[in-house]
Amino acid sequence: MAFIPQNIIDEVIARNSIEAVVGDYVRLERKGGQNLFGLCPFHGEKTPSFSVNTSKQFFYCFGCHAGGNVIKFIQMIENLSFPDAVAFLAKRVGIELQLDDAPEARKKQAEYKQMQACLLDAARFFYHSYKSPQGRTAENYMQVKRRLSPAILTSFGIGYAPDSWDALTSNLLKTYPEKILLDLGLTRKSSKGTYYDFFRDRVIFPVFDHLGRLRAFGGRIMGQGEAKYINSPDSRIYNKGKYLYALNFARKDSRDFLILTEGYMDTIALHEAGFTNAVAGLGTALTSSQARLLSQYTRQVILAYDADGAGRNAALKALDLLSREQVDCRVLVMPNGQDPDEFIHANGKERFQGLLNQALPALDYRIYLSRQAASTDLGSLDILAYQEAITDLLAQESSPVVRELYADKLAREISVSPASILQVIDKKRVKEASSMPSPSFNPETNLQRVDFEFDQASLTYLNALIEDNSLISKPELQAAPQDFPSGMQEVMVKALALAEEGKLTMPEFLGLLDQAGAGENLSRSILPYFSRLTKSKLRAREDYALEALRLLRLDRLNEQREAAIQEIERADDLASQQAALNRLNDLNLALSKLRNEVQHDQ
Ligand code: GTP
Ligand code: MN
Repeated sequence: MAFIPQNIIDEVIARNSIEAVVGDYVRLERKGGQNLFGLCPFHGEKTPSFSVNTSKQFFYCFGCHAGGNVIKFIQMIENLSFPDAVAFLAKRVGIELQLDDAPEARKKQAEYKQMQACLLDAARFFYHSYKSPQGRTAENYMQVKRRLSPAILTSFGIGYAPDSWDALTSNLLKTYPEKILLDLGLTRKSSKGTYYDFFRDRVIFPVFDHLGRLRAFGGRIMGQGEAKYINSPDSRIYNKGKYLYALNFARKDSRDFLILTEGYMDTIALHEAGFTNAVAGLGTALTSSQARLLSQYTRQVILAYDADGAGRNAALKALDLLSREQVDCRVLVMPNGQDPDEFIHANGKERFQGLLNQALPALDYRIYLSRQAASTDLGSLDILAYQEAITDLLAQESSPVVRELYADKLAREISVSPASILQVIDKKRVKEASSMPSPSFNPETNLQRVDFEFDQASLTYLNALIEDNSLISKPELQAAPQDFPSGMQEVMVKALALAEEGKLTMPEFLGLLDQAGAGENLSRSILPYFSRLTKSKLRAREDYALEALRLLRLDRLNEQREAAIQEIERADDLASQQAALNRLNDLNLALSKLRNEVQHDQ
């Protein structure tokens, strides 16, 4: 960073304490010591793994491994370059930035400012021409044909690009050099070397980022035709995969979910109908950085995509990206090929609220699609194809409870026994598992490289316990350290003790792992399990914990059984062989008893 001297950067860092700056965005709680904890703003989570170290003045997330100093934090959360982040923080504490006069940097900075000013002037121009007589057709289109109120159109800054080759360009050229207009994509150069407006005779949708800064425009023709929408190209201040339309409004909505639509018009129609938590992508399929952005603002997204083939594919892709950010995602299913805009205008907002209430969880949505795919036009169902598709889906489900519940449902639907469905699923799982490394404890632990990997039953139990410490006081749910894989036992002694005092939280647990020397990979590998379980509300926490505890005990008994068998084979005297045989007998008894309990409960 050439043009801000180091001493200024140091001062900016010194005067912006990280806890205060992060505190503007994240609710932090002290967990003893020098660490504050909160929900990470950079990835989705429900239990805090984002820490701020006040003595070292850095932040670090155990979940997504984002970390750095206060400038890095502002760069990430405000989407700013390093110099802009420094400027942002300088302004926050009233430091005058003494920019050095490196001409290059000066020029770049000035150009950037000019681009922003130019965009604003363009927006003003579009707005005025919408309000002027030449904007009558646009006004008619938006207010009569698309049935939007003047108030909502004004709040979205809707404008009109006149039916002229260079009205905007000639206007802006009075203030800005051509290069700026070309870079912003507002102006194009013809093969003859003349300039012409990119947006002509179109309704204009200004695109603001999540903080309300103008970044780009979209333009729609009024009526039917080719190139229905055109959008500003990416530039130094715009990247269409990084922003979401209307997030600047939606982030202020008090509902705890966001509605994701496919386009400008759907979003505006929803806002008009009171669903001010609606946002849209910007003419591309949802990107991972948009998914990340969504996860900064909400834990739940409801997809309201068009009910056509393209909408379906887009929804499946979005489900995938959002689940990676641990955002719970549901899909709203619209009847007969409508989009949200059409639906609201045809059926009203109450009916749309009804659709929201019935939005399908990801798995149900996939099942719904499978059912459609296996149905003929006349409405009869190809049972075999349907069964095949659903068991494929369920084989990928990690939770045995979810598998069982849905297997039951499918069994009833196609009139077979649940057991046979579960058998098919198990077979598919075995096939899959053999081609995938299983998450189990890695015995090659040593002091240099501690690489904890937990089995799923441990994580399930721990997750339930972290969510409700009091589970430990229920006799049937009381785990002992020995119930866990050997590599975890040391940590579990402490974790269980904390739970007994009602003090076991996710940060505490991560802290214990940290002390035990677990590396960074750890939280990466365990947190997805946690969130997955937290999201399935299909069964009570106690049932999960009990199931997990039994699985753990089965695992331990099996381990001991293996050990006993080896000992019998290795024993060189009769007495120790007999002792091992007795132990094996006891273990077999205990195992069959436990298996009985498990089956009896199901
Ligand atoms: P209306 O027809 O105005 O109701 O829009 P819609 O939202 O129903 O349209 P559609 O589903 O076709 O488009 C959804 C989004 O895709 C729009 O908001 C645009 O961002 C983008 N889009 C649509 N058509 C085009 C196009 O021709 N070119 C580009 N670049 N983007 C488009
Ligand atoms: Mn539409």
